[in-house]
Amino acid sequence: MKPEVTVKPGSEGSKAKYWITEHYKYVATTTHDPENLPLVIERGEGVWIYDVDGNRYLDFSSGISVCNLGYPTHPEVKKAVIEQLEKLAHGAGTDFFNPYQVELARKLASIAPGGLHRKVFYSNSGTEANEAAFKLVRQATGRKFIIAFYGGFHGRTMGSLAATASKNVHKKGVFPWMPGVIHVPYPNPYRNTWHIDGYENPDELVNRVVEFIEEYVFDKLVPPDEVAAFIFEPIQGEGGYVIPPRGFFTELRRLADKHGVVLIDDEVQMGLGRTGRMFAIEHFNTIPEVLTLAKALGGGVMPIGATIFRADLDFKQPGVHSNTYGGHALACAAALKTIEVTERLIPRVVELEKVFRDELLTLRDTIEKVGDVRGIGLAWGVEFVVDKRSKRPDVTARNRVVKTSLERGLVLLPCGKSSVRLIPPLIISEEEAKLGLSIFREAVREATT
Ligand SMILES: Cc1ncc(COP(=O)(O)O)c(C=O)c1O
Repeated sequence: MKPEVTVKPGSEGSKAKYWITEHYKYVATTTHDPENLPLVIERGEGVWIYDVDGNRYLDFSSGISVCNLGYPTHPEVKKAVIEQLEKLAHGAGTDFFNPYQVELARKLASIAPGGLHRKVFYSNSGTEANEAAFKLVRQATGRKFIIAFYGGFHGRTMGSLAATASKNVHKKGVFPWMPGVIHVPYPNPYRNTWHIDGYENPDELVNRVVEFIEEYVFDKLVPPDEVAAFIFEPIQGEGGYVIPPRGFFTELRRLADKHGVVLIDDEVQMGLGRTGRMFAIEHFNTIPEVLTLAKALGGGVMPIGATIFRADLDFKQPGVHSNTYGGHALACAAALKTIEVTERLIPRVVELEKVFRDELLTLRDTIEKVGDVRGIGLAWGVEFVVDKRSKRPDVTARNRVVKTSLERGLVLLPCGKSSVRLIPPLIISEEEAKLGLSIFREAVREATT
């Protein structure tokens, strides 16, 4: 199968144009970009998306890493959901018990790194999973401060928003958010305040970040014994698909252990097989006390968030934290099957990494405006710059690449200031991956020359 775009997306007179206009009359403003991404989806099938004008696109977005098993979902997840729907969907899982949430929690605890006794708090989204993590660590440690990283994204509700620092628009006009969050630099190998080439000198970059935390936070800002947790993305998603040096999290773990600080690992975007491991943190040999998941966990069918934590951190009495939909039977059934299917897909993700690496590195080496390429598994970011020497972000070029790709039949999402992410569903075949990459290559050539 090939992409087929016969009606220019969002053009005058198209059905897409009609629905976008109606959308703006009735639906709240969120993150759409109708100029560069005028995609109005009618349906999806596997790795293919069909818009309301009948155009067919190859998907390299996975609905922001939700539809990892393809559209509308994997047949096994569909079957599990239908079977569950015959029995129970909502069973007020935080007030009444049900076996489905226990089965999922047992599974999540067993796949989480470290072999610790863990428990799970259920919610409906990534931001809620992180909110729960903050309440959890504050009440468990009696400490109040949270350290987060520049470039990180953890959600947009008032607690997780406080930790988010990828774009100032997220905070525009809505102060005050949750107090007590302190930001420190993330070891971004391509761009960092010290101008260190973190690919050439990863240890130096890691040391600078650790020194910064010790000297400028623990020494001058707050005593470390008042810090409850670090929250981080093992690979920054929204912030640009930034992969820190491999040694970073073992150093962070060491620092955290020294001061009794908890690690909260936000796996909302990178978790569940996207990087070729179930959790991205597994690439870094580090065991966090708390992991948060959402997005792909629901198999693209059900919204679900999960906060997986070392059991001794649990809330001390009923009512400290709870919600209405937590432990929703249908969401839990979808998630359990999603994990089973994902386990089988992981070897394929590992194999496909090379296909992406080869193609994208060639692109970086041949196109002046491709400043950086980074990725692992099926999580790839490409950063556009005015020129390689200055590294000045080229937002216009990035936007053109997104738009041109769409017009050529490839769906991509932007990230960071001037990057795109290439994150196909994990079910993609090698042939489809190569096809998507060749469209991307042509789109980049067209958009940057
Ligand atoms: C790493 C990370 N954490 C948290 C969130 C927030 O998740 P949600 O949009 O489901 O609230 C996102 C969303 O993109 C994310 O990428």
